[in-house]
Amino acid sequence: MLHHKRKLMKYKMLKEKISYKSRNNKIMLREDNQIYSKDLFENKNIIHNLNNSQSLLIIGDVIDVLRKIPSESISCIVTSPPYWKLRDYYIENQIGQESTSEEYVDKIVEVSKELLRVLKKDGAYFLNLGDTYLEQGLQMIPQRVAQKMIQDVKVLGKNQKKIGWLLRNQIIWHKPNHMPSPVKCRFTNTYEPIYFFTRNDWEKNVYFNLDAIRVPYKSTEKENTFGLPEYLDEKEYKEMLSEIEKINNKLKYNGKFKGEEVNIGASPGGRSSVTGVKYIKKRKTEIEQKIISEYLTKARIKKGISVKDINKILGYTYTAGHWFRSDAGGSLPTSIDWMKLKKILAFDNRYDKVMTETHYILQTIKKHPKGRNPGDIWTMSTAKLSEKHFAVFPEELPRMAISACCRQDGIVLDPFAGSGTTGKVANELGRKSILIELQTQFVDIIRRRCGDVKVISLEKDDEYDDFEENRAIGIQLSQQNRI
Ligand SMILES: C[S@@+](CC[C@H](N)C(=O)[O-])C[C@H]1O[C@@H](n2cnc3c(N)ncnc32)[C@H](O)[C@@H]1O
Repeated sequence: MLHHKRKLMKYKMLKEKISYKSRNNKIMLREDNQIYSKDLFENKNIIHNLNNSQSLLIIGDVIDVLRKIPSESISCIVTSPPYWKLRDYYIENQIGQESTSEEYVDKIVEVSKELLRVLKKDGAYFLNLGDTYLEQGLQMIPQRVAQKMIQDVKVLGKNQKKIGWLLRNQIIWHKPNHMPSPVKCRFTNTYEPIYFFTRNDWEKNVYFNLDAIRVPYKSTEKENTFGLPEYLDEKEYKEMLSEIEKINNKLKYNGKFKGEEVNIGASPGGRSSVTGVKYIKKRKTEIEQKIISEYLTKARIKKGISVKDINKILGYTYTAGHWFRSDAGGSLPTSIDWMKLKKILAFDNRYDKVMTETHYILQTIKKHPKGRNPGDIWTMSTAKLSEKHFAVFPEELPRMAISACCRQDGIVLDPFAGSGTTGKVANELGRKSILIELQTQFVDIIRRRCGDVKVISLEKDDEYDDFEENRAIGIQLSQQNRI
């Protein structure tokens, strides 16, 4: 107790850092009051025995702890590390107080290397990272970190193949309640980036549950079909032409592509957004191309005519050749070409209906019944905590990430847990979570916010007393609003 008071005094007077000491090399593990002498995750039950909605909080340095987590065991990482030179957590080994931005960038990249190793093949990493002004200039730290992660970070996957990071989105976290700023010679900062990474051996079956995060349409958002039917037959289309023209005139598009009919953007949405309403003519019934190519080939051989000659008769150079191929280069003749071909090859009527019957399809993107994709600008108010722990991110941030990218039985990881926002949200969404935090003083806040939490301290074995002691000091200091 006396020692504790002395330490507190020393901190107050000399602003000395609370240390996370290491006096010998033997790593011991403690879960609440128990001491484990085994390597943390050699005892795999520690993870597997977690209940759904339970959090495992590991007190220790991020790199030390990550090295104990098995490869390819985590489904979704959501975190916000301390930003460079923004606040001092008064603890040895803390990230954010490096003397140069290069050192800081390298540190976050080093952490990302371990994160890449622990991430499952279909996992995701959401990194929220703010920038720092140095002598009035932005340091571009988030961008430098992201670039280095993509270019330099390589680890050996379980399959012994090298893997790296793939940047899927740069999301803008727009803060409608951003801090008022006294700056007069530049614009106020109102956003922070959130990088969404996956492994670069990401496969097509990656887990992304878009339906879980769809945004409802505003009642004012109109369907851009203008009440027109999706399909029209030839007669209906002709009758509707003047109506379509009227709609398109009302849209008053006057841009670069005015008057152009084709090749305006690759997507139907792109085309309709610049040209207005548009129908395209398509075959009414789908048919496998291979069936037609084999049928045509038989008829051609029977007739004893070469593909070259068919091209010549129809005035094509290569087009007819594709109709007789059943590989990826094959294609179906248009209804007009089908009838011309019929004259040349004299085949029967069996496919005439399929090959010649057409209708018109409206080319426009329809509203998804479950809402729209939220896009890459997320408007979320900054969060506050009664404990005055600063720099918490809004619950909405991990909620979006976990709902979209973490399978129901997956494990969520926050390597810089702070007050435990990620754990709280994972818990609410019924996911297990692992939280890593250097500061013992946040244990109580995390326990209070996350509910069911198992606490382990990754420390040197003679640090047990300091754990309780540092925690007590931390609580006192935070009560005085110092931390
Ligand atoms: C910006 S805060 C995270 C806040 C969190 N997103 C929340 O909502 O509460 C960053 C945290 O990283 C912790 N930290 C700093 N250096 C660390 C290290 N080397 N290992 C583990 N945690 C560290 C700090 O103590 C701090 O709590």
